[in-house]
Amino acid sequence: MFKKLFFLVVVVTNVAFSQSELPLIPMPNSIQMEKGFFVLSKETVIQADEKSFEAQYLKAQIKEITGWDLPILPVTKANSKIALSFVVGSLVSTDSKQYHLDISTKKASIQAESDAGFFYGIQTFLQLIPSNSKTQIRVPCLKIDDAPKYAWRGMHLDCARHFFPKEFVKKYIDYLAMYKFNTFHWHLTDDQGWRIEIKKYPKLTEIGAWRNGSMVGHYNEQKYDSIRYGGFYTQDDIKEIVAYATQRHITIVPEIEMPGHAVAALAAYPEYSCTGGPFEVAKQWGVLDDVFCPKEETFTFLQDILTEVIALFPSQYLHIGGDECPKTRWKTCLHCQALIKEKGLKDEHELQSYFVQRIEKFVNSKGRKIIGWDEILEGGLAPNAAVMSWRGTSGGVAAAKQKHFVVMTPGSHCYFDHYQGDPKNEPLAIGGYTTVDKVYSFNPTPTELTPEESQYILGAQANLWTEYIEDYAKVEYMIFPRMIAMSEVLWGTSNPDQFKNFQARMLQQFATLDQKGIHYSKAIFEVTSKTMPAPQGNGVVLTLKSATNSNGIRYTVDGTSPIWSSNSYTNPIEITKDQCIKAAYFEKEVQKSAVMEQKFFWSKSVGKKITLVHQPHENYSTGGAFALIDGIMGDRSKFGRDWLGFLGKDLNATIDLGTATTVHQVAISVLSNEGSWIYYPNTIEILVSNDGKEFKSIKQLSSSEIKAVNGLVKINFEAQSAQFVKVIATNLGKIPTGMPGAGSNAWLFVDEIGVE
Ligand code: ACM
Ligand code: ZN
Repeated sequence: MFKKLFFLVVVVTNVAFSQSELPLIPMPNSIQMEKGFFVLSKETVIQADEKSFEAQYLKAQIKEITGWDLPILPVTKANSKIALSFVVGSLVSTDSKQYHLDISTKKASIQAESDAGFFYGIQTFLQLIPSNSKTQIRVPCLKIDDAPKYAWRGMHLDCARHFFPKEFVKKYIDYLAMYKFNTFHWHLTDDQGWRIEIKKYPKLTEIGAWRNGSMVGHYNEQKYDSIRYGGFYTQDDIKEIVAYATQRHITIVPEIEMPGHAVAALAAYPEYSCTGGPFEVAKQWGVLDDVFCPKEETFTFLQDILTEVIALFPSQYLHIGGDECPKTRWKTCLHCQALIKEKGLKDEHELQSYFVQRIEKFVNSKGRKIIGWDEILEGGLAPNAAVMSWRGTSGGVAAAKQKHFVVMTPGSHCYFDHYQGDPKNEPLAIGGYTTVDKVYSFNPTPTELTPEESQYILGAQANLWTEYIEDYAKVEYMIFPRMIAMSEVLWGTSNPDQFKNFQARMLQQFATLDQKGIHYSKAIFEVTSKTMPAPQGNGVVLTLKSATNSNGIRYTVDGTSPIWSSNSYTNPIEITKDQCIKAAYFEKEVQKSAVMEQKFFWSKSVGKKITLVHQPHENYSTGGAFALIDGIMGDRSKFGRDWLGFLGKDLNATIDLGTATTVHQVAISVLSNEGSWIYYPNTIEILVSNDGKEFKSIKQLSSSEIKAVNGLVKINFEAQSAQFVKVIATNLGKIPTGMPGAGSNAWLFVDEIGVE
């Protein structure tokens, strides 16, 4: 038996290869380099049971890379062989996912206790074969001991907002398999489409799978086409996909959304709503008010659906959604209000909890468990439910402390529908800014949990919502290379302090992606910039970086495009006025990256000290308070970076100008994007002080007095001397009825405060 090692042990004993050059992702737990090479050629034999799927898979993959059709033989005397063999011993456990890869000059041996172990060993071996190999291949001799840390290594795909055909879903599963993911969370129903055939309720797909148009551009633009759009998976399709995933040791967790995100189902069966409809399958993204009404008939309907779903999916967990369920209809529905009284519930949150508990009881009666988004904590968690924590990690922490299983998927690190590079260079996305290094820095187990509580963290997953992802090429682009980073996080061998090491291995994966024709983002090659306060409190400095080689950066300060003979970047660039910096990465005279452009808007507050009373939400906090006085205006249509988002909280910022300064204006840049529940402030107040303690209020604006021009609210007042300027912009608070997000906390987005 070999021991399970959850830490990285690297013993380099050989000059030919070092561990850091191996193109392995996720990095195995332990690698020991040895002398020499194993030669893989068309004479190599796969020694294994011919009936083994794993052996057939290995054979097919080698054929795809090299063109060689290697035989599979149970016994062989071949001079070069790849042998799959079960570990013999008293502790054999088919649950074990560990494997041992031992490559010597004549034999590459994969030992495991289960088929899943072989499968992971095979993925590791395949990564050691250069993707352009067509002749003899030299694979370095080594020994690897390996096993995953987390039991839930997930990727999600929303097939409701956009429909992806069966063939692509299989490809998606292949991508998961390549990087040792084991869970595919399949989002099958939502307001914009019902995608799973249910025999008992044929209208779910006859009506619910089709919409008469979709949004065009970003939600903000409120534009639609009128093209009929849709599609669904037949039960035969689903059986085929489930079998395909099962062979690859991937569990499919289907998501059937309830009680919210149900408009497609209600378009087909309006009788299960509060109002009776009629409804049409939603063309609009976002959160809609019409949801399932918790009537007996609705429970029968949902239980019938779940019965068919359970028969199709062997997964232990069923995802029942539970997120973003407005209580608007329930508040005015006679049935819902009577039910609240009858059951002695406190409010509509407890009604949602009642709904989820009813469904849980049913699912448990079928021998399965439910998992739901973290809103299922509200009003009381169902007794056996697992929680998927998406609104940060706090829901997951709360659930783990209540001894419920948790899958972490916070928006900050796990939402792959966010931008992954400078929004200017990226295709349209919902918003956010989640770079590959941010993903790599994710720790699924929050440090505030005790070791005991930590055991409830099953793992994590990345989510791909597809409002802005129309086709498979864009799906690939959004997941790669970020899922490569997530793979290592979930395997348990990521080390954010050694991102460069990961990056070098990730860049080697690009050759494999190229060979397979997989689309991926090259944002990693971009020149990235970081703005920091200048050392003497005089303005800011801009630092430039290229992930590959910062020596190749050329830049201009006059708005022209950089060329090879422009300034060569060596030191941070000082910004002390309105300015536009442009930069690009060159190798010799050839420009390798898009031009990065950074505009600065000068004011007296740029680079000064700033403090906040309330912190922004973790999803929208890049740069911290400094983002408000860095001279940079965030992108309004592709907002993500450079914005601070306050959820239900006020902006309360104090800027220290360093010395008494004459001031007469404060300009605040704010965002309105109602579809994303982002609203202008309710009131704004400006205060000044000379000691930072006693503040004098010099201007108050009520909501009707807040006039934003292109999002900029300029507030003029009598010129006066002050060292400290305080800005209080109050959050709208609970979103009023009739507005998008009604009843929930509003977001307040601010990206800059300029003092003149
Ligand atoms: C979610 O992103 N609404 C779970
Ligand atoms: Zn109702």
